[in-house]
Amino acid sequence: MKRQFGIIPVLLFAVISTVNSCPPSDRAALLAFKAALHEPYLGIFNSWTGTDCCHKWYGISCDSKSHKVAAIDLRGESKDLFERAGRSGFMTGHISSEICKLTRLSSIIIADWKGITGEIPKCISSLPFLRILDLIGNKITGNLPADIGKLQHLTVLNVADNQISGRIPASLTNLSNLIHLDLRNNKISGPIPKTFGRLGMLTRALLSGNSITGPIPASVCRIYRLADLDLSLNKIYGAIPPCLGKMAVLATLNLDCNKITGALPSTLLNSAVGNLNLSRNALQGKIPNAFGPRSYFMVLDLSHNFFKGPIPKTLSSASYIGHLDLSFNHLCGRIPAGAPFDHLEESSFMYNDCLCGKPLRSC
Ligand SMILES: *[C@@H]1O[C@H](CO)[C@@H](O)[C@H](O)[C@H]1NC(C)=O
Ligand SMILES: *[C@@H]1O[C@H](CO)[C@@H](O)[C@H](O)[C@H]1NC(C)=O
Repeated sequence: MKRQFGIIPVLLFAVISTVNSCPPSDRAALLAFKAALHEPYLGIFNSWTGTDCCHKWYGISCDSKSHKVAAIDLRGESKDLFERAGRSGFMTGHISSEICKLTRLSSIIIADWKGITGEIPKCISSLPFLRILDLIGNKITGNLPADIGKLQHLTVLNVADNQISGRIPASLTNLSNLIHLDLRNNKISGPIPKTFGRLGMLTRALLSGNSITGPIPASVCRIYRLADLDLSLNKIYGAIPPCLGKMAVLATLNLDCNKITGALPSTLLNSAVGNLNLSRNALQGKIPNAFGPRSYFMVLDLSHNFFKGPIPKTLSSASYIGHLDLSFNHLCGRIPAGAPFDHLEESSFMYNDCLCGKPLRSC
């Protein structure tokens, strides 16, 4: 009789601990994921022992209801690692497709390990709950998954500083919840999809440092929340869509180092944009005489283009011009005077055809 009483608590304990610990299939998938990676300096995977992967496995957290793995958060530049080991992380190997067996995953952060190679597993686009995919700062190659647009909950897609090639998949513009897109410093080629403007929740689109060609699709202007558009250091050609200057919250527009032609839209000079870098393109014509009280520029860099004619008089009606660069153009005439840019130096105006007046020689 006594013995039987003892069995109940043991059974209860067994039931509770299986409910609270991760499913064996999740644990197996994590161990297979780990087996494809090699982290020689910090021992971050040393904690990946025991049956309960939801308990004290470094970088792993589980969904509180289903007790399935919900997040992988491994950052090579994280502070706690640095404090523990006095160095930032380094890891080689690849991201195993076993990760796709973790079907409850909502966040995958495998960032700044510098040495992880291989491709993004294609099956990642069938993880139904994925919200964050952050693989910045590795050596990942191959294309973005063609059907990435299936990730209907994705809010963050960051694969910056890798070696990803191929085109921006057409399906990407189906990511209607995407807020943050960072593809900087890869080897992406081909055009920006015409339907880019369907990314209605986007606030930051950072595509600089690739080999992207083609024009800037005017549909971009429909992205109401877009605050930061960085297309610099690519091979983009065609004209700047004037509607960019009509966007409600666009504050940073970097198009420098491309092959952009045509005129500078006057809308951009009296808009919400406060950081405008159009340096090193093939823009031509006059700088529109369209500055006004709304013109507030931390940076206005129009250097290394083919602008001609005078510096527009309305420049003196701008609220603020922090850094102005008009060098390496074909401008001519008197530099207007005014409080917003009294502080500017010679270098802002050098290498033009015939500019004169302060801070250059007098006219
Ligand atoms: C975008 O989503 C729609 C509706 O789900 C689908 O019909 C279409 O094929 C998708 N487009 C691409 C390019 O994947
Ligand atoms: C503008 O872009 C050019 C070319 O990429 C770069 O050299 C320059 O520093 C940028 N200007 C500012 C003010 O950041």
